[in-house]
Amino acid sequence: MPYSLSHNDTASDRLLRQQEISQSKTTYRYSQAEADGSHIRAPHSLPDAESFGNMVDTSTGSAIEYQPQLNSAVGKMAANVLFHSFFLTRNYAKVRHDTLGDLLALEDQLADDPTLDNISAYYDGLASVVTSAGTSNDTKEYLDLYQNWSQAGVRGKGSELYSDTVFANQAVAGPCPTVIRKVTIPMLDAYRSNGLPITDDIFLAASPFTQNGDTNLETMAAEDRLYVQDFSMLSSLSSGHTGAGSDEKRFVFSPIALYAVTADSNPRLLPIAIQMRQNDRNPDHWDPIFVPHMPNAMVYGGNVNTSDWSWMVAKTCVSCSSQIYHEYFEHLGRAHFLVESASMTTNRCFSSRHPVYAILKPHLEGTLAINDFGRDTLVNNGGTVDRYMSCRIEDFRQSAAKAIYQTDLLALIPPVDLANRAVDALPYYPYRDDAVPLWNAIHSYVGNFLSVFYPTAADLQSDLDRANGGELGDWWYELTTDLDLGSSVGVLKGLNLGSLQTFDDLVTVVAFIIYTSSVHHAAVNYPQGDYYSNASLCPATVSRPTPIPGETNKAYYMEFLPPEAQATFQMNQMMILASFQFTRLGRFEADAFSDARVDSAIAQFQSDLAAIGTQIENRNAALPAGLRYHYLHPNNIPQSTNI
Ligand SMILES: [Fe+2]
Repeated sequence: MPYSLSHNDTASDRLLRQQEISQSKTTYRYSQAEADGSHIRAPHSLPDAESFGNMVDTSTGSAIEYQPQLNSAVGKMAANVLFHSFFLTRNYAKVRHDTLGDLLALEDQLADDPTLDNISAYYDGLASVVTSAGTSNDTKEYLDLYQNWSQAGVRGKGSELYSDTVFANQAVAGPCPTVIRKVTIPMLDAYRSNGLPITDDIFLAASPFTQNGDTNLETMAAEDRLYVQDFSMLSSLSSGHTGAGSDEKRFVFSPIALYAVTADSNPRLLPIAIQMRQNDRNPDHWDPIFVPHMPNAMVYGGNVNTSDWSWMVAKTCVSCSSQIYHEYFEHLGRAHFLVESASMTTNRCFSSRHPVYAILKPHLEGTLAINDFGRDTLVNNGGTVDRYMSCRIEDFRQSAAKAIYQTDLLALIPPVDLANRAVDALPYYPYRDDAVPLWNAIHSYVGNFLSVFYPTAADLQSDLDRANGGELGDWWYELTTDLDLGSSVGVLKGLNLGSLQTFDDLVTVVAFIIYTSSVHHAAVNYPQGDYYSNASLCPATVSRPTPIPGETNKAYYMEFLPPEAQATFQMNQMMILASFQFTRLGRFEADAFSDARVDSAIAQFQSDLAAIGTQIENRNAALPAGLRYHYLHPNNIPQSTNI
């Protein structure tokens, strides 16, 4: 049946639409409020319509092979994911031989009786099959965990992985490419007077900068060559518990990392200074600043026994902090929670005949189901994230929740976000280079699609008229307004999505939801396997406080890293999350749309995506292997947030 707006329908059709919406609001009921996440529009129970049953893992090109007979779709999803994790762990972790039999027994048990209890038993067993459960004092022993890891598509091999170059590239091509911003001279002054007393003394030692004549930070800022990743927002997070009987300590830092672009013929981003926390505002107690070229600084290939490892510790601290911020905001909050809100309101407020429902539907598939699974197993107290991440899980959830409803969400649209961060002069920033054309393609697609149904401004205004059955108005109200739904549900916070008054406003909001559920989630999810699976490169927790600059030995660095059991658990989780791609952006099911008037918009969208794919392939072909960025190739972007 063709799509339509309710005010253009006959009275009998309008009645049918209202009946459908009434039923939807019964099916998609909001959950009872929880203290941590009452603003999230979570379902009271997972509706039957929300299923993974027909989803195909397009990364392997075949349907998932393991189909346990669990009652819920989410249970099937969970079992499938965990079944794959057996093989991932075997392939990439160093399994302790004397317990390999236990692992196999757990696998058999799960295959025979694929209940969630046995899935939990597998997880409990997993932590016991790694090399050791303690902290290794030997870099080789610890790093042997990753002996096969370079096969997983990493950014470099061996010691190269721990270089300043790879560290800097994480900020522009890793899992969290949305924090780095240009430092202006006023910003530099503000940092200096508020706890980061960096001076030009950093140019007294030999470095790629002094070798090219750099002596002055202001000059670099004036030349658009000074950048920062500022994670001071993490200072409000507290450390998580470590479980009964564990002597492991966890630390949450809030670092500021300064970077600069070299002035030579091969301009590249490199870190120049790191401060690990900013909690103490007393100038007498400002935290030390670590720089890469301190005397006796550890470099790979150098003397590991007599060198100073504090720069390595500082870089590792930044990677850990970046991961915490990335997971609570960019991943859980921005991709999963935000899209969940869009899914609930879209399902509740539109009839299936509405064009906004039709265009959004493919991009909301599976989000409620994966979030339901995640609330029960990933971000719950005692769950996966609680087991391997530094911060308190309650802080993690609350930070995700608050960040979403306190953020001006339209400032996250790529052209706006990139302009705010002033990053156009960065010489290598593939996330930027791919995100903008993808945003433009989605925005254009939404405009072409919806313009069929809103030929005049009056059509939009009628659809916004809640009092007269305007479905768009109901959707917008429920999405953006603080809703007090009574004591059984509580107050749901509205999303800050600006105003909806014009057709352009509508196109922007709908495009933002589609971009977030597809492109943004892909940008922050799939690099996890390549980076976060290696806890020596990107630990989710660290176990020691700030070291002493110039006086930090290898043993301290090893103690700073998470215990091996934590590291293997982290590896397993991150491999899983990056291993599934159920759909591809722009590849719609044959029966996805029921109105021939949108065919040309879809064809144009698919053509635009193909052109972007070719552009990315050409770019990557001209780059060294370690710099190729493939996460936002349209073939690698699922339609929705579903893993
Ligand atoms: Fe995800």
